[in-house]
Amino acid sequence: MSASAPVRQLMAADIQARKGGAPLVCLTAYTTPMARLVDAHCDLALVGDSLGMVLHGLPSTIGVTMEMMILHGKAVVRGASKALVVIDMPFGSYEESPAQAFRNAARLMAETGAGAVKLEGGVQMAETIRFLVGRGIPVMAHVGLTPQAVNTLGGYKVQGRDADAERVMADAKAVAEAGAFSVVLEKVPDGLSRRITEAVAIPTVGIGASAGCDGQVLVLDDMLGLFTDFRPKFVKRFGELGQAADEAIAAYAAEVRARSFPAAEHVFPDVLKAKA
Ligand code: KIV
Repeated sequence: MSASAPVRQLMAADIQARKGGAPLVCLTAYTTPMARLVDAHCDLALVGDSLGMVLHGLPSTIGVTMEMMILHGKAVVRGASKALVVIDMPFGSYEESPAQAFRNAARLMAETGAGAVKLEGGVQMAETIRFLVGRGIPVMAHVGLTPQAVNTLGGYKVQGRDADAERVMADAKAVAEAGAFSVVLEKVPDGLSRRITEAVAIPTVGIGASAGCDGQVLVLDDMLGLFTDFRPKFVKRFGELGQAADEAIAAYAAEVRARSFPAAEHVFPDVLKAKA
């Protein structure tokens, strides 16, 4: 028997079983190299539809397509061997009917190899979640601020303050009862996030929510300081890679203009020196 047993890739059921346990660590990933880095430290790698804004310069996630999700989903799956890969269902791919949602969720999972899908919505999506889970598709739900609904929500506002709290609570309970294996709480106030975490039997994963959630998720490019178009209050920069990249590119440009790059060690001699 080998000294160290191979590590099995996490499945949705493993994540669900972590309710109330050690915090779940989740980051987005959109490419193979970033997925490798995330996989080394995280329980979940989320192919978020935020890729539309972060990688493709779209103004919101509304314009993200199935083809974009499949392309990036395949790349992430190639880079992940331990973390569960969850792939977002893009706007318009699941809201019409449970049958439409199944067709597109099955395509996302079959073509990318992801282990679960994520979709936005609470009470309204409960029937769809039940339909998918009953047919072999693990679903991560997403309530509170649901960015695909930015046009009806009137912006990227905190959800569930004051009298609105019971609506968000009802959404979280509905997706848990429908069979979601976990639920993202986005921009939900601290106290309400804690109440929801106590009230539902599945792990809550917070983004702009509470340290009391069962886990946390951030957009990788936000926390690395690579995406700097705007910075929500809930983003902590754990690195300043955007600034480091800017400095490196500026140094390269200066050396090319000064003809100091490439230097002797970067070019190929016309004649090889004979070995002694
Ligand atoms: O698309 C995304 O990256 C997300 C996370 C922010 C939860 O949904």
